Amino acid sequence: MEATHAGDARSPLTFLCLASYEKGHRALEELKKQGCRVLLLTSLSLKEKAAWPRESLDDIFYIEDNEHEWDLQQMLRGVAHLFRTEQIDRIFPLDDFDLEKAAYLREHFRVPGMGETATRYFRDKLAMRMKAAESGIRVPDFTSTFNYQKIASFLERVPGPWVLKPRLMAGAIGIKKLHEAQGVWDRIHSAGDEQSFSLVERFVPGSVYHVDSIWFRGEMVYAVASSYGTPPLDVTTSGGIFTTTILEGGSQEDRALRTINEQVLKAFGLRDGVSHTEFIRAHGDKAYYFLETSARVGGAHISDLIEAATGVNLWAEWAKVEVAAASGDRYPLPHPRTDYGGLLISLARQEWPDTSSFRDPELVWRLQKQHHVGFIVKSPHRERVEELLGLYSERVRNEYHASAPPREKVRE
Ligand SMILES: Nc1ncnc2c1ncn2[C@@H]1O[C@H](COP(=O)(O)OP(=O)(O)OP(=O)(O)O)[C@@H](O)[C@H]1O
Ligand SMILES: [Mg+2]
Repeated sequence: MEATHAGDARSPLTFLCLASYEKGHRALEELKKQGCRVLLLTSLSLKEKAAWPRESLDDIFYIEDNEHEWDLQQMLRGVAHLFRTEQIDRIFPLDDFDLEKAAYLREHFRVPGMGETATRYFRDKLAMRMKAAESGIRVPDFTSTFNYQKIASFLERVPGPWVLKPRLMAGAIGIKKLHEAQGVWDRIHSAGDEQSFSLVERFVPGSVYHVDSIWFRGEMVYAVASSYGTPPLDVTTSGGIFTTTILEGGSQEDRALRTINEQVLKAFGLRDGVSHTEFIRAHGDKAYYFLETSARVGGAHISDLIEAATGVNLWAEWAKVEVAAASGDRYPLPHPRTDYGGLLISLARQEWPDTSSFRDPELVWRLQKQHHVGFIVKSPHRERVEELLGLYSERVRNEYHASAPPREKVRE
């Protein structure tokens, strides 16, 4: 492999950042702050829309996209042009869907970081199920959808309901909960040539949690565990209100979740970066089941929630971890506050809802988005956060809430 120049006084590290969607401003800003040369490759369709932090970018390149999808060969050729004059040290994917693009480019241009096999465990829900199960981590019973006989024996052996889900999507898109085996078969057959891109698993009724963590040199250096209110699938299918709350630090749940999070990500080989990982605690046996993981910052404003409560911005920390890893430096651990925080997001009937009557001193952030309401509250006391989220959920349900049909394909 060609040696890449480590960043030193003479040559700053050059990062090529990939963004099929607009996100990760704080990571771009932090890379610049750390003295890197920052190149951004993004979707052409965002050209007039995205408000990138231009002062943090040394250059920006656009690639034609089909609703944010890129042609990988075209991307590779474009990046090859860039390589003629740039020495790129690291490739930094900003969106979940950019992870495999980054891996593909790293493999071709021999850039350090996660390659295609390693990345699979963080993108492909079948790969993550299999890897977790192999590593002795509890997962909902599952099967691939490649082979009729295997599907049939799974549906016989494992009681329903089941969920059929796309292996490579996010945002609960295309996930179907099915009560009848025939329903599973119908959906599998209607997938046609796409049949192999799903998996079926047992629906495990329970509470859903997420652990957001920072990793450096293969060690979990920071983690925050939170619990969703209504499980995310129920929010998308039954039009509920999305909430999540940071757990009581050191409580049994908090400790159990951090431990299993560490087990999962060590088994999956995460070295340097961040992760948003989800678990279900079954109502039945009270055990924790691994739901899914990723090697990126969690969506749905979870990073804003964590920053409000702890002062730690996961995008900025991710950039710091990447720079420290690339230059061989120490990663300075953040000094988090230990406040509690809660986040609420809902669709709203009003185009630009007026939320000025929400005025508690604990209210630290409001979502500004068409047909949405969203709040973050923080307090040194977890009970106060729960109380406020309860009150706000009630008011939002009565005064603002609207629901939309679940999404099959489209992503925002
Ligand atoms: N086996 C299961 N048992 C019970 N609920 C499940 C199961 N699989 C998925 N769900 C529900 O579906 C939601 C979305 O599933 P998952 O996290 O796997 O998909 P996703 O598309 O990545 O979603 P998101 O991006 O919203 O996290 C979960 O939060 C949970 O509510
Ligand atoms: Mg999920």
